[in-house]
Amino acid sequence: MNILVLGSGGREHTLAWKLSQSKNSTNLFVAPGNAGTATIATNSDIGVSDFEGIKQLVLKEGITLVVVGPEVPLVEGIHDFFLKEESLKNVTVIGPQKLAATLEGSKEFAKEFMFRHSIPTAAYQSFSADGLEEGYKFLESLEPPYVLKADGLAAGKGVLILNDLKEAKNELRTMLVDSKFGDASRTVVIEEFLDGTELSCFVLTDGEHYKILPMAKDYKRIGEGDTGLNTGGMGAISPVPFVDDVFYKKIEERIVKPTIKGLKKDGIPYVGFLFIGLIKVGGEPKVIEYNVRMGDPETEVVIPRIKNDLVEVFRAVMDKALDKVELKIDDRAATTVIAVSGGYPEAYEKGKEILGLESIDNSIVFHAGTKKMEDKVVSNGGRVLAMTSFGKDHEEGLALSYSNLEKLCFDGMYYRKDIGFDL
Ligand code: AMP
Ligand code: GLY
Repeated sequence: MNILVLGSGGREHTLAWKLSQSKNSTNLFVAPGNAGTATIATNSDIGVSDFEGIKQLVLKEGITLVVVGPEVPLVEGIHDFFLKEESLKNVTVIGPQKLAATLEGSKEFAKEFMFRHSIPTAAYQSFSADGLEEGYKFLESLEPPYVLKADGLAAGKGVLILNDLKEAKNELRTMLVDSKFGDASRTVVIEEFLDGTELSCFVLTDGEHYKILPMAKDYKRIGEGDTGLNTGGMGAISPVPFVDDVFYKKIEERIVKPTIKGLKKDGIPYVGFLFIGLIKVGGEPKVIEYNVRMGDPETEVVIPRIKNDLVEVFRAVMDKALDKVELKIDDRAATTVIAVSGGYPEAYEKGKEILGLESIDNSIVFHAGTKKMEDKVVSNGGRVLAMTSFGKDHEEGLALSYSNLEKLCFDGMYYRKDIGFDL
């Protein structure tokens, strides 16, 4: 089978790495990919939103399976585009259609879905510019901190958590009236603040059946001790030590099952990965958000723990026979630590040569923002690479990731040295 992975991050390198190990994978393509994917697949310099370009590649190369990494093409309707095109009828897309992708594309849509199906989440109200005064009143009725969320996609920057009422009101106005996040903040969701520990739950569904993938925890802040600005993610571990059998059951019964059932009941077709951002509040799981894709860097620890042939699993998704698959999970812990460019998540430089890649042993380097320049590999983004390792527990895995990171260098390289510190 000829397969295309869309995207260019550590998530996509990991998916391509796993797919490349399948006996069912003949030719593997990644668009646009990075220097890491280039070593195991053919990169094609086509953007993830260039549907026409993707169509041409799929037809030219006889691709029959497309795995969509990031949310943007899903929210823009890539799956719907494939369904509409006669010549693409036989291509399976792993990733939901536009309607279901609205679970990530609109916070208000997601909150309405959760309330309709009694899925535990924070209390909320949503406001548009003509409801600014009511928004102020709602804020006055809440206790700090105040959680303001731009309704639409804002590249992970659309959530503000503020301690001061005056500042919260000010930001609400800036979002609604001054378009702080462009169209994404035409509607703002104001939420009750939930105090607890976050974790990521991943589900693969064919629309009828589902499989829960290994749980993971990521570390979003740039600074050690979870301080400083939010990033795309600085590291991850799987499994999550505080998810015991009782808590797992609560997640499955109260959140995963009602979500899959709710999608069916609402007539929202869903094929692909669903990422449920959870928070554990006093022993109870609540949903912070839905994403309609895998997480990054969680993919770098979740996918390596799956022992099945991933092409066979996707085949079962195609055939709506996911119930026939038995997932085999590596019981070791997987850990990943992300090396980023100096300055990230604010301004940073690209094009720095990465040295030491050939000296890594007993870890897997998943590339994120890298590209090939002549015979060198250079940085090409904020998050540059992920160092993934296995261990009997996360401490052992992290020790390996860290000892291998010491062998790497590029100008300005930074990584957090305390991933897993809170466990
Ligand atoms: P989101 O984009 O909805 O995942 O929000 C980004 C981050 O903001 C989450 O990962 C949480 O750390 C935090 N957050 C979002 N909603 C809440 C909430 N209701 N209470 C506390 N923290 C929240
Ligand atoms: N690691 C969080 C995300 O992928 O959104």
